[in-house]
Amino acid sequence: CGIVGEVGNDNAVELLIHGLTKLEYRGYDSAGIYVNDEKGNDYLVKTKGRISELEKKIGDDVHGTIGIAHTRWATHGIPSEANAHPHVSEDGRFYLVHNGVITNFKELKEEYLQGVKFVGETDSEVIVQLVGHFAKEGMSTLEAFKKTISVLDDGSTYGILMIDRENPETLYIAKKKSPLLIGVCDGFNVVCSDAMAMLNVTHDFIELHDGEIVELTANEIKIQDANGQPVERKTFHVDEDASASEKGAYEHFMLKEIDEQPAVMHKLVQEYTNEDGSMKIDQDLINAIEDADRLYIVAAGTSYHAGLVGHELFEKFAKIPTEVHVASEFAYNQPLLSKKPFFIFLTQSGETADSHQVLTQVNEAGYPSLTITNVANSTLSREATYTLLLYAGPEIAVASTKAYTAQIAVEALLAKALGVDMGYQEAKDFDVRKELSIVANGMQELVDEKHDIEKLAQKYLAKARNAFYIGRAIDYDTAIEAALKLKEVSYIQTEGFAAGELKHGTIALIEEGTPVISIITDHTIASHTRSNEEEVVARGANVISIVSKDLAKDTDQIVLPTVHPLLTSLVAIIPAQLLAYYASEQRGYDVDKPRNLAKSVTVE
Ligand code: G6P
Repeated sequence: CGIVGEVGNDNAVELLIHGLTKLEYRGYDSAGIYVNDEKGNDYLVKTKGRISELEKKIGDDVHGTIGIAHTRWATHGIPSEANAHPHVSEDGRFYLVHNGVITNFKELKEEYLQGVKFVGETDSEVIVQLVGHFAKEGMSTLEAFKKTISVLDDGSTYGILMIDRENPETLYIAKKKSPLLIGVCDGFNVVCSDAMAMLNVTHDFIELHDGEIVELTANEIKIQDANGQPVERKTFHVDEDASASEKGAYEHFMLKEIDEQPAVMHKLVQEYTNEDGSMKIDQDLINAIEDADRLYIVAAGTSYHAGLVGHELFEKFAKIPTEVHVASEFAYNQPLLSKKPFFIFLTQSGETADSHQVLTQVNEAGYPSLTITNVANSTLSREATYTLLLYAGPEIAVASTKAYTAQIAVEALLAKALGVDMGYQEAKDFDVRKELSIVANGMQELVDEKHDIEKLAQKYLAKARNAFYIGRAIDYDTAIEAALKLKEVSYIQTEGFAAGELKHGTIALIEEGTPVISIITDHTIASHTRSNEEEVVARGANVISIVSKDLAKDTDQIVLPTVHPLLTSLVAIIPAQLLAYYASEQRGYDVDKPRNLAKSVTVE
């Protein structure tokens, strides 16, 4: 979910709607806004569906100087107007938006709110009803707000913004394990779950820490910690240009972001290497990793897939045994750790709750960690020992593209730096500057030929019911990500499979015309994957081969430029991203905002 709030600006509606639009990637099941003009007029507008729907519902008379707004990714309760935020206390006094999950909401309802009439089924509504309940008992607004926060149990997570319509000059804010930043403006103040939402009005932000409560007015930012002690905190500056999150001439962010990948590769070479070929990576980080006996890469979704490739890179160049884990599994089913583990968190957003949960455990155990992320100052970046940035620019399309390739490139850069520092010949011979430049050029060739891929998508995928990606070794790592891309935006049921394993059961799903896309970039396994292609062809499949130039046959539909054997994922994924993009477009779906998904999932 995404939340924004504002106090002190005459154009509250415009400001909040603009902010919500920038946060829509965080969820888009329903949206809502509450504004108050501090002269006795206030307005609550909510809708199921997108922010564009909400805008249509906002009449000309709706105006205010203070307000809160929310775009939702449903956790408790179906997407509906009743479940959309802001929620209101029964007496109509308090208005509240919430991002996160209240785990003891049923118990709280039972204990404090018997007889209170609820509008929807969300856990969030309980928070506002509790404030109303405590206020009725005679507490001040701040006391009622703090009391409410104190009864939320340990497992609960929240970013909360609240307005009291009887004293509408203050925004009440609380935060725990859900991102929230205060934006400092001239004559007014804002609050948002991502700086991007407010870059049009400020670049100066104050981060909030877990357990803190804020009273925000037009001219004052009063932060107190969990013990009620005042907190002074300096602002930090966000350099990002507001236009970096605009689509420009592109119809969709996804295509824009696919096209940006060659530039991201060049940028990473620039950020992490010197012209003489030496590496620009913090020596403390290198030492800390070298001190470890095993690397544990922890991530979710696409980032997890980038971790699979990282596994190859760290083991081959730095010779450090590496394990890759899905964050949501690791948190509850920890493997037996080595004596000196080092953790690497891969996370585009730096906010994913599943990954954050593991980092919290890692910090409690006192192990060193690195977050590789696209967002400076994000939660996982702040809480890990070290951070390496992806420099990919904001990624807006829900389906991740440039963050995936940036993650792999950063892993390659880090693996090189480690291997060289430890004196390994393989790493010395790996000219990462040159190799990533070759990759960038190869990516450019592929994106320049996107219309050939568009035709293939039309021919094989526009009407497909299910599909497979197959590959072996590093091509298998790519195949899993390729399959995720296709399924998340085109809704074609797609599996990424180890090419040799398909015949052990799953081949039963191959029918006449089933698309099987094979990735072949590794000469040691090429002939084996070719045999697997034959097996599915014999059962009626339509095979589309994505093959490195040096291994390609005349009949192969997609030929990849030759790159370093451990970097082939960086180029092989491009046609797969394009196939997914075009398949989604041809099937008439919302490419940038696939159903049921959100870009940054800040709940478990
Ligand atoms: C969500 C997104 C995925 C993303 C995953 C991990 O599920 O829809 O695209 O890969 O979160 O996100 P992170 O920000 O941690 O990389």
